[in-house]
Amino acid sequence: MAFACGGRAENNKPVDSSPKFTQYYNQGEQLYQKYCSNCHQKDGAGLGRVYPPLNVSDYMDNHFNDVICLMRNGKKGELTVNNVNFHQPMPGIPALTDLEIAEIATYIYNTWSHQRGIVEVKEASMILNACPPSE
Ligand code: HEC
Repeated sequence: MAFACGGRAENNKPVDSSPKFTQYYNQGEQLYQKYCSNCHQKDGAGLGRVYPPLNVSDYMDNHFNDVICLMRNGKKGELTVNNVNFHQPMPGIPALTDLEIAEIATYIYNTWSHQRGIVEVKEASMILNACPPSE
C-alpha cells in the first residue's frame, strides 16, 4: 500500500493493534459518525469558521480533559483552534456513557494526525467526575 507524504491530515496507522484498542477504536468510529460527524465532518476537517477541525487541532493536543468533558456537557464561549477563533456553542450529549466517551476519544485521538494511544474508560471516568459544571 502506498502512503502519501506531507499531507496535513493523512490517516496514521493506529499505534496499537491489541484487540481492546481495536474494539474501542471501531466502536468509537461508529459513535463519531453518529454523534459528531454532522458538524465536524467524517474527515474531521470541520466546517469553515463554524465547526472547528479535529483532524489537526492544537486545542485537542493541549486540552485533553476539556475535550472529554465537552462531549458530555457541551461548550459555550470562545475557543481557538490553530489560531482560528470559534464562538458557536457545541451542544453536549448527556446520554453518552463513560465507556462511549472513552471509545470516541480513542477514535479521535488516534485518527488523522493524532496518535495518543487508547483512552481507557477508567481515565475517562476520572476526568468526567471532575468536569466543571456545564454552563
Ligand atoms: C451541532 C454541532 C456539533 C456536534 C454534533 C459536535 N460538535 Fe464538537 N464542536 C462544535 C462547535 C461549534 C465547537 C466550538 C465550541 C466553542 O466555540 O466553544 C466544537 C468544539 C469541539 C472540540 C474542541 C475544538 C477542536 O476543534 O479541537 C472538540 C474536540 C469537539 N468539538 C469534538 C466533538 C465530538 C467528539 C463530538 C461528538 C461526540 C462533537 N464534537 C459533536 C460543534 C459540534
